[in-house]
Amino acid sequence: VKRASTAEKVELKPIGLVETRATRDEVRNRSTTSRLILREDFTEALQGIDDFSHLFVVFWMHEVSSRERKTVKVHPRGRADMPLTGVFATRTQLRPNPIGLTLVELLDVKDHVLTVRGLDAFDGTPILDIKPFDPSDTAREVRVPEWWTRLERERSKKHQGSKYTPIVRGTA
Ligand SMILES: C[S@@+](CC[C@H](N)C(=O)[O-])C[C@H]1O[C@@H](n2cnc3c(N)ncnc32)[C@H](O)[C@@H]1O
Repeated sequence: VKRASTAEKVELKPIGLVETRATRDEVRNRSTTSRLILREDFTEALQGIDDFSHLFVVFWMHEVSSRERKTVKVHPRGRADMPLTGVFATRTQLRPNPIGLTLVELLDVKDHVLTVRGLDAFDGTPILDIKPFDPSDTAREVRVPEWWTRLERERSKKHQGSKYTPIVRGTA
């Protein structure tokens, strides 16, 4: 068995790039349609993906600076009224390895280009991986912090009657 060391670097090469005309606000709200422009040599690697309705997209939030990557605690969503929380207990982009993981709806596949809804990645973001959503990834009796419930309640109030529909609804 070859054990890795945390001192070793892990090298990744993007499989493609995100293309979107959405504004930064629209990206944050996940009310966006984006195109995942994969490398052409991965066209065959997409065979069968259109049988899935949802995908996980793993991406590299490349605009996070090396200083921001040293962040240890944040106020969720940058809100001073939320408790100071360890970065690994939040979904902040300010983390040692700024990897994004987002569940999206697959709208269309054409050659090496996927069209998806709900991706919170800026235009030009490198894509590291794509995995189909497996319904068994769903958890039952989910527990979340009080701050999360507060934020979600605010969000659903704000978006009542609007086009915004979260892909996955919280259970809390
Ligand atoms: C809070 S992160 C969460 C990403 C993903 N949903 C997750 O849970 O891993 C998403 C935010 O990161 C920021 N972001 C998106 N793409 C980025 C990029 N390429 N570089 C830096 N920040 C980015 C945007 O502000 C976006 O709203």
